[in-house]
Amino acid sequence: MLAPSVERRLAGTVGRLGGESAFEVMARAKELERKGRSVVHLEIGEPDFDTPEHIKRAATEAMERGWTHYVPSAGIHELRETVARHLSRTRNVSLSAENVIVGPGGKPVIWCILSALLNPGDEMIYADPAYPAYASAAGYLGASAVPVPLLESRDFRLDLDALTAKIGPRTKVIVINSPHNPTGGVLTRSDLERIAELAQRHDLLVISDEIYSRNLYDSEFLSIASLPGMLERTIIVDGFSKAYAMTGWRLGYAAMPKEIARAVTLFLNNTVSCTTAFVQMAGIAALTGPDDAVIHMNEEFRKRREVLIGGLNAIPGISCVMPQGAFYAFPNITQITPDEKRLAHFLLEEAGVATLAGTAFGAAGAGYIRLSYANSIENLKLALTRIGEALPKFKG
Ligand SMILES: Cc1ncc(COP(=O)(O)O)c(C=O)c1O
Repeated sequence: MLAPSVERRLAGTVGRLGGESAFEVMARAKELERKGRSVVHLEIGEPDFDTPEHIKRAATEAMERGWTHYVPSAGIHELRETVARHLSRTRNVSLSAENVIVGPGGKPVIWCILSALLNPGDEMIYADPAYPAYASAAGYLGASAVPVPLLESRDFRLDLDALTAKIGPRTKVIVINSPHNPTGGVLTRSDLERIAELAQRHDLLVISDEIYSRNLYDSEFLSIASLPGMLERTIIVDGFSKAYAMTGWRLGYAAMPKEIARAVTLFLNNTVSCTTAFVQMAGIAALTGPDDAVIHMNEEFRKRREVLIGGLNAIPGISCVMPQGAFYAFPNITQITPDEKRLAHFLLEEAGVATLAGTAFGAAGAGYIRLSYANSIENLKLALTRIGEALPKFKG
């Protein structure tokens, strides 16, 4: 809490910013570890694997070759071309370098896109619960973030009737994220077709956050951009953090109609100037090099998913839908407590397991916690044992 005298100095807009509590919980977990406590980290969404060797080598070689200077704000042309080819192939669309912008992570890319699109008073429809950056950015910009609940009964897919009802004269953008953080839900072809139909009928843009497109377990990835008439009204967001275990490198990208790309580039120009040059060169190696590491990581996530979801469902009071993608479990804990924040706090402080309260992702996360299974099977088993042993002591 800030003293009123300090608060007066800050811009009023600061009060409208949200934030990602995963970073706060991680800081608290690390503090406990410094005090000698053991903590299993299931709070943050980052693969525990090392970045593949050939990607690291490409970065060091690029550095040695002099890629240590400013580069264009929209990204190095060769990377933009590589991304355009990659998306054209994997999303079954036709894109060129001019459609692509590169930024220091998917998150700042999302901020720059929303900054380029939203006027004060505009409405942005998004799923609740959701990755917190969308609503935080919209709120900061003075736009309204309009939540549409994800339904556990639909394996955490959108309530499409509620979505239809929320569209109004001020609606400008629908944000979708499939596979989804924090629930692991995946939209089906018919969900996407219905959203596409609504977007076209009401002349809306769709931001499709596809950062977990490589983390799918039971189906092939389908982008809404590939549906008829959608490429010209879809902005695809993706990045390297999750698929290539490159969270700390800070590299993401998006593809969109050229005029929007030019406006988003202006925001990149005004904020970061450009994205680290040798990191972009490593991005080219990631997209063009061998894919084995990505496939291997996904196979490991699949095994971990079985262990974690099976283990959670064996704990009395917890029930967890099998996530179809990403690397998160979103168990329902309402039989244990109505207060997911207290439970997450208890699990960290008393059981040494760092998780996040579902409400860190929006009001509809009430009654759930999120656990990331981007951790070893050994650690997941340890976390399950600790949760199972500690829960009888929890006073909900
Ligand atoms: C849904 C979603 N989109 C975007 C991002 C941004 O990732 P990064 O900024 O590391 O590229 C994340 C990270 O957790 C995410 O979960």
